[in-house]
Amino acid sequence: MPVKVKKEKIRYVCQSCGFVSLRWMGKCGECNSWNSLVEELVPQHSVRSSKYAHRAVSPIQLSQVDFDEEQRIVTHSQEFDRVLGGGIVFGSVILLGGDPGIGKSTLMLQEGAALASRDFPVLFVSGEESVRQTKLRAARLGINSEHFYILAETNVNEIIGHIEKLQPKLVIIDSIQTVYQPDFESSPGSISQVRDCAFQFVQIAKNQNIPIFLVGHVTKEGYLAGPKVLEHMVDVLLQFEGDRNQFYRILRSVKNRFGSTREIGVFEMTEKGLEEVQNPSAVFLEQRKENISGSSVICTLEGTRPILVEIQALVTPTSFGMPQRTATGIDNKRLALLLAVLEKRVGLRLGMFDVFVNAAGGVRIEEPSADLGILISIASSFKDYVVDPHAIIVGEVGLGGEIRAVPQVEKRLDEAAKLGFQRALIPKFNLKGLTQNGSLKITGVDKVEEAIEEVLN
Ligand code: TYD
Ligand code: MG
Repeated sequence: MPVKVKKEKIRYVCQSCGFVSLRWMGKCGECNSWNSLVEELVPQHSVRSSKYAHRAVSPIQLSQVDFDEEQRIVTHSQEFDRVLGGGIVFGSVILLGGDPGIGKSTLMLQEGAALASRDFPVLFVSGEESVRQTKLRAARLGINSEHFYILAETNVNEIIGHIEKLQPKLVIIDSIQTVYQPDFESSPGSISQVRDCAFQFVQIAKNQNIPIFLVGHVTKEGYLAGPKVLEHMVDVLLQFEGDRNQFYRILRSVKNRFGSTREIGVFEMTEKGLEEVQNPSAVFLEQRKENISGSSVICTLEGTRPILVEIQALVTPTSFGMPQRTATGIDNKRLALLLAVLEKRVGLRLGMFDVFVNAAGGVRIEEPSADLGILISIASSFKDYVVDPHAIIVGEVGLGGEIRAVPQVEKRLDEAAKLGFQRALIPKFNLKGLTQNGSLKITGVDKVEEAIEEVLN
């Protein structure tokens, strides 16, 4: 009888999207990226056979499910709690993404230590730095708590074992890309490793009701390694961003099963680690120079929070054929649209000019209420007229040059009044039902021409 030779199974996994194929392909069938499929052995013991994956559960009537509000650990860091939707939910898995060097480890170390100092046992798993290095950094941050445990381990099975033994109230894995499953052939950081390790952490978080933070690096293209796969698995996806050369960092929630995704937290990187910034408007306007052309102040709403930001524009004659358009903190498409409106509706001939626009302080503005301010800054630089420095400008601009209403205008006006602004230019439509705001002189405008006329003189 012929002996049956067991052939090892091979599969191909796309390193960009996680797509699995049984044959090699030059181009991924899912995300169309080239040369992204990497060969690996199909693991003999799949993690799906781990004890957490196959817990026998039976269906339960909805009415029989015990209902209590999600229990949260309130961290007492206002910025952090706000972004999480009011604290860390027990049993949740939170992915913290961001560029290398932005301060993810620092943030996690500080938040973990703050909880440990309140007698919550916290396990910090460091796959990137040694215990000594972590200790050095902790010492610099003034962290020293007996409830803070550091583990320099990257084998996922070992880590899980320690979590079960220690039963911490919070686990931090820094980073998910360094953790590996020894049953797998592929190297740490590869898509199957990242996915399967994350899967194990999700299982233990749910089973033991322990919140777990996974730190993840963002790749050059701006994706977390194993992007979509991880996004679906975790409960909360936080993004830590900011310009590394500037001090401000913004924590944004991109996905949150337990709260809003519009909230942001603002921090400042100092010598003593990250400090909360409770009044971002004042900070973002701090270095503003009054009486120069090309500058105006807008009020964007980030979640429940109004933030005043200076929009700077510089319009200069093009020296080489193609005019340049560069936007920082503002969507390029939005800028192109506003430039087209300025050309067509206001008659500014910008075709032979370079245009640079910048949201000061390293913030990224997504809300269309900033449109009018951006447009006015550009017009101001082009005409070299100064915008009234005591005015804030709010309004969405339509393709016809009309100014459209924005939500929650009172909140924005209150913030402006609080910071000593004296005038506000808002969409005419928003005037309806608006009560006068103390010291603020409010002007409603309908068209971009009118708005330019109002503030540029
Ligand atoms: P880190 O938390 O290591 O970043 P990540 O984990 O996202 O890669 O932060 C690295 C940067 O933060 C580094 O450039 C030094 C700076 N930093 C400070 O400015 N002050 C501090 O107290 C600490 C701990 C770091
Ligand atoms: Mg780090």
